Amino acid sequence: MAFPSLLFHFLLLLLLTTTLPSLTTAFPPKINTTAYPASDIITRDICIIGGGSTGTYSAIRLSDSGQSVVIVETKDRLGGHCETYTDPSTNETVDYGVVSFHNIDIVKNYFARFEIPLTIALDATPGQVIKYVDFRTGESVAGYAPANATAALAGYAAQLEKYAYVEAGFDLPYPVPADLLLPFGDFVTKYGLEDAAEFLFGFQQGLGHLLEQFTLYVFKNFGLGLMQALKTGFLTTTRWDNSEIYEKALAELGPNVLLQSHVIATNRSGDGVKVLVQTPSGSKLILAKKLLVTIPPKLSNLHGFDLSPNETSLFAQFLNSAYYTALLRRTGIPPHISLTNTGANTSYHIPPLPALYSIRPTRVPGLYNIKFGSAFALSDAQVQALIVESVLRLDTAGTLNTTTPEFAAYADHTPFELTVSKEAIEGGFYRDLYALQGQRHTWYTGAAFHTQDSSLLWEFTEGLIPSILA
Ligand SMILES: Cc1cc2nc3c(=O)[nH]c(=O)nc-3n(C[C@H](O)[C@H](O)[C@H](O)COP(=O)(O)OP(=O)(O)OC[C@H]3O[C@@H](n4cnc5c(N)ncnc54)[C@H](O)[C@@H]3O)c2cc1C
Ligand SMILES: *[C@@H]1O[C@H](CO)[C@@H](O)[C@H](O)[C@H]1NC(C)=O
Ligand SMILES: *[C@@H]1O[C@H](CO)[C@@H](O)[C@H](O)[C@H]1NC(C)=O
Ligand SMILES: *[C@@H]1O[C@H](CO)[C@@H](O)[C@H](O)[C@H]1NC(C)=O
Ligand SMILES: *[C@@H]1O[C@H](CO)[C@@H](O)[C@H](O)[C@H]1NC(C)=O
Ligand SMILES: *[C@@H]1O[C@H](CO)[C@@H](O)[C@H](O)[C@H]1NC(C)=O
Ligand SMILES: *[C@@H]1O[C@H](CO)[C@@H](O)[C@H](O)[C@H]1NC(C)=O
Ligand SMILES: *[C@@H]1O[C@H](CO)[C@@H](O)[C@H](O)[C@H]1NC(C)=O
Repeated sequence: MAFPSLLFHFLLLLLLTTTLPSLTTAFPPKINTTAYPASDIITRDICIIGGGSTGTYSAIRLSDSGQSVVIVETKDRLGGHCETYTDPSTNETVDYGVVSFHNIDIVKNYFARFEIPLTIALDATPGQVIKYVDFRTGESVAGYAPANATAALAGYAAQLEKYAYVEAGFDLPYPVPADLLLPFGDFVTKYGLEDAAEFLFGFQQGLGHLLEQFTLYVFKNFGLGLMQALKTGFLTTTRWDNSEIYEKALAELGPNVLLQSHVIATNRSGDGVKVLVQTPSGSKLILAKKLLVTIPPKLSNLHGFDLSPNETSLFAQFLNSAYYTALLRRTGIPPHISLTNTGANTSYHIPPLPALYSIRPTRVPGLYNIKFGSAFALSDAQVQALIVESVLRLDTAGTLNTTTPEFAAYADHTPFELTVSKEAIEGGFYRDLYALQGQRHTWYTGAAFHTQDSSLLWEFTEGLIPSILA
């Protein structure tokens, strides 16, 4: 008799462990609304999840429209991918995440609101000499010079013009034009854009294997707005401190920002939304009319959310690339040298990932910025080891005298680009995703809903605000 009952328990256990993830997302913890004293209840018009680029912008714009807001942010600061390092010996600041913005009114108005002056960003530190190195060997790529991309970029722009709607979001026509679903490598050869491929790779860092990404995602990340910005120049902060806007927004929003906080449970089935949040000063119950989600909507990032079957099935489809940034000291690299990872024998000299994209000098002498990309997530220890090996390989190869560097700063920006399969896109994934807007008092903004570009995301968010306020 023991045997069948053991087998039953075993099967039950198997059933439970295999179905548990979907069970927990389908049934988040119940919120006992009577368990919280008034001092732990936060009543607002709008609760915003995530205080990065779009979360902060939304909070400011919605507050300016007379709405009361509260932001729930896991980190101890606002800004998300925007990262600024302060050199301890000089107090000089270096932006090693988000660097530049489009030269457009929405950007100028947003920075002007916080009295932060902007200037045209320089392409490179003056006097810098770029070395093209294959970091698999540490050797300079003999006889290499970047292709003249001008004509191919004009050809690329002519293609973009045909799909002007991608500039505004993911409102795609159905059937989705076949070219948008070509792996970008095939699109490049189809339209003779070979000379622009490496340039686009350098610009679209963080997208993983660029030639394998669907042309749709490449277009979204390098669209007509960026083509325009290449002509007008990009903007950056005169004080070299892109985090200043987030610090000022935090000061202004004050108690309306819950830092180091995360969602434990949500309930969106009533008249409004209930959000139970763990904060450094205990659990708080947020009662809001509406919810605005700005975080990467991967299921792994939505524990405790009362997701609808549609939300669950859509968000479960997201794949993601990985992107990392670091500041190094004591590399041994001479101050005027800048290094670009260049495949000696690869298509369009695009380096295979995971790898660093480049090592660039910053305005602080001896401090170098590293950008590192991968098609999949790596541990911080793995990324740091690969960066160190890459720097030391320059020495082994006799290219530069380098030494084991020290990390002055390091940041993981994974998950970065969120993508879905060709079948999903063809099947109306983005139509269904956009149909979530406004359901159960919930709206969505952030990179997964548009593109990895702060300026364009502020425009996208601005376009969403009227429907949130309606
Ligand atoms: C290294 C790097 C350089 C870049 N350079 C530029 C540039 O020069 N110009 C440009 O326009 N764009 C740049 N980008 C892209 C730009 O940063 C993004 O497009 C933009 O930040 C996306 O905004 P977002 O609000 O979607 O996400 P984020 O800015 O990442 O904000 C999301 C926020 O949500 C928080 N969060 C995540 N999960 C949760 C959770 N479960 N609960 C609560 N909070 C959560 C995060 O901590 C973060 O603060 C760069 C990105 C990187 C990584
Ligand atoms: C909810 O909280 C109240 C107050 O703490 C408590 O009396 C009640 O038993 C709780 N209800 C449930 C279902 O846990
Ligand atoms: C850096 O700023 C801090 C805080 O404002 C100040 O105390 C310190 O003296 C400054 N250091 C330098 C080198 O300017
Ligand atoms: C690049 O090509 C364009 C035209 O295709 C030409 O006008 C320009 O002079 C070239 N630039 C260089 C640096 O050769
Ligand atoms: C969610 O809230 C509604 C009413 O606001 C309530 O009827 C329902 O039981 C709650 N659901 C959960 C899972 O707590
Ligand atoms: C869920 O998605 C399907 C399409 O996949 C759509 O027909 C349906 O209306 C959606 N349900 C809700 C509640 O939005
Ligand atoms: C390309 O170069 C790398 C690094 O030197 C080498 O490992 C690889 O075998 C080469 N591949 C081809 C196809 O030549
Ligand atoms: C490295 O240092 C040695 C010894 O000082 C020097 O001879 C050599 O030229 C240096 N190599 C490079 C690439 O700078």
